[in-house]
Amino acid sequence: MSDNTLPGEGVSEYPLHLTVNGMERRTTVPVACTAADLLRDDMRLTGTRVGCSRGVCGACVALVDGVPAATCSMFAFQLEGCDVQTIEGLEQDGQLHLVQQAFVDQGAFQCGYCTSGMVLLTKALLERHPRPDRATIAEWISSNVCRCTGYAQIIAAVEQAAARLAGEEGA
Ligand code: FES
Ligand code: FES
Repeated sequence: MSDNTLPGEGVSEYPLHLTVNGMERRTTVPVACTAADLLRDDMRLTGTRVGCSRGVCGACVALVDGVPAATCSMFAFQLEGCDVQTIEGLEQDGQLHLVQQAFVDQGAFQCGYCTSGMVLLTKALLERHPRPDRATIAEWISSNVCRCTGYAQIIAAVEQAAARLAGEEGA
């Protein structure tokens, strides 16, 4: 008689080994646990916001192996072996990351709900395009929704961060 059991069937929890903000973490996760729930509820990294829960708004973005990822729309077990960075991991020795500082300087947030995702998205953008033009910035941030700012200040913050990265005086 054939065995009709599907791969993974009957498994309710997965062991998980990953790095989060530079720290090695081991845990177990329910099969249906999302990456956002793992970060927010289990690890208390609540800077990862959940808005739409559908992979549309970008509020829940974390960097997974350096790539912006909608954590609401992936399973926690998919993070096995990954290097995850959340907004909590950007500050170093009490100093805001250059991108965070640019958002502060430009007043690029109001309610702040989108800001974690926007900042992490900007970090990833500048790693790939150190001096992005307006079209490139607009294309990247179009994946994230801000209901407050009208985007002008966010674009200004990305440009300021790029200029500071390039070492421009007065940026
Ligand atoms: S909450 Fe994940 S994309 Fe909106
Ligand atoms: S600052 Fe409120 S959603 Fe962007």
